[in-house]
Amino acid sequence: MTQPLRLGIAGLGTVGVGIVRIVQKHGALLATRAGRPIVITAVSARSKTKNRDVDLSDYAWVDDPVALAKRDDIDVFVEVMGGSEGPAKDATEAAIASGKDVVTANKALLALHGQALAEAAEAAGQVIRFEAAVAGGIPVVKSLTEGLAGNEISRVMGVMNGSCNYILTRMEDAGLSYEAVFDEANQLGYLEADPELDVGGIDAAHKLALLSSIAFGTQVDFDAVELEGIGAVTIEDIRQAADMGYKIKLLGVAQLTGRGLEQRMSPCLVPETSPLGQLQGGTNMVLLEGDAVSQIVLRGPGAGEGPTASAVMGDVMDVARGMRISTFGQPAKSLRKARAARAAVPAPYYLRMQLLDKPGALAKIAHALGEAGISIDRMRQYGHDDTAAPVLIVTHKTTRTALDEALADFKSTGVVTGDPVAIRIEAV
Ligand code: HSE
Repeated sequence: MTQPLRLGIAGLGTVGVGIVRIVQKHGALLATRAGRPIVITAVSARSKTKNRDVDLSDYAWVDDPVALAKRDDIDVFVEVMGGSEGPAKDATEAAIASGKDVVTANKALLALHGQALAEAAEAAGQVIRFEAAVAGGIPVVKSLTEGLAGNEISRVMGVMNGSCNYILTRMEDAGLSYEAVFDEANQLGYLEADPELDVGGIDAAHKLALLSSIAFGTQVDFDAVELEGIGAVTIEDIRQAADMGYKIKLLGVAQLTGRGLEQRMSPCLVPETSPLGQLQGGTNMVLLEGDAVSQIVLRGPGAGEGPTASAVMGDVMDVARGMRISTFGQPAKSLRKARAARAAVPAPYYLRMQLLDKPGALAKIAHALGEAGISIDRMRQYGHDDTAAPVLIVTHKTTRTALDEALADFKSTGVVTGDPVAIRIEAV
């Protein structure tokens, strides 16, 4: 029998336990497929005594993940602790320095330190694999680095945070406010310990930054992602958008244009009949566009024990089979530093505002749009009371710069009360 591949697992939360379960349940299957046994040698977590409903008695227990990473009896350091700094980073660096391959689910760590870690791993002849860091159980990293390796990628797009998609679809289905559904999701344990990671779009932006790097051969640049979370999305906008045939999604879009690398994660309107528009609950969806393949759509569970452990095990199996793919699909030293560009690809916009119900108010708004070179596609005034008239406008394609100019002009008209809502309508 060939040498077993020996795993050291750091982190025994939902994902870590999921990995242990797969290794225990599918030992024979994994060994047959890989041509060698996959074994767990040692594990590490904060609490040794916590009941995890899984048998860990065959594995060495190590309190310190850095010590686990350095052990001579592991080949692969599996990092499923999370966190961009501290133990996860220290232990990953220690693993690379002591000749271990790394399989990680840690999007924050790689989004912030991916370039340095990849360079260190490649200099040491080790691999870092991170399928589980992006879109949970969906094999999107493999799709880009392997299946689509013959394509020039033009755009990567998707819904990559299940919690946000759950909140937005639940608001619509139950007719509830953002605040009510946020509280509900938090109580159900659907949100990260720091919910801002989810609802602020940060978690999804980490994932987008990682996919951008692979897609465009650029160094991960999380700080350059234009970021807007879902906290300002109202049930009113969800209803009005639905009435016009759209859904609101927290959508990530990355594309390389002549101006540079555009990366944005923000609420967008998408047609309700599109695959993205029909995405319900905590499911993720990623669309990849390449010059040869045109577009592929990947859909599946973006989080949870089984899906995330499934992605980790896919990486473990690749290592067991001897696959040595560069972290971001090409040697880390060859990744270019991209010029970050503000999203400039024109798009139609959905605008909602409250106007004073007096003669000429609408004309002033139409004038401000016209002055900014923005053409109106559709317009509707609805449900006005004695003083205020809610108005919806869908523009023809325009740039965010022109729109910002018009929005600034709206203020000086003196007829708009409160802040207008402006949401991009994405062509998907
Ligand atoms: N909170 C994340 C999500 C988990 O909802 O997608 C996976 O990153």
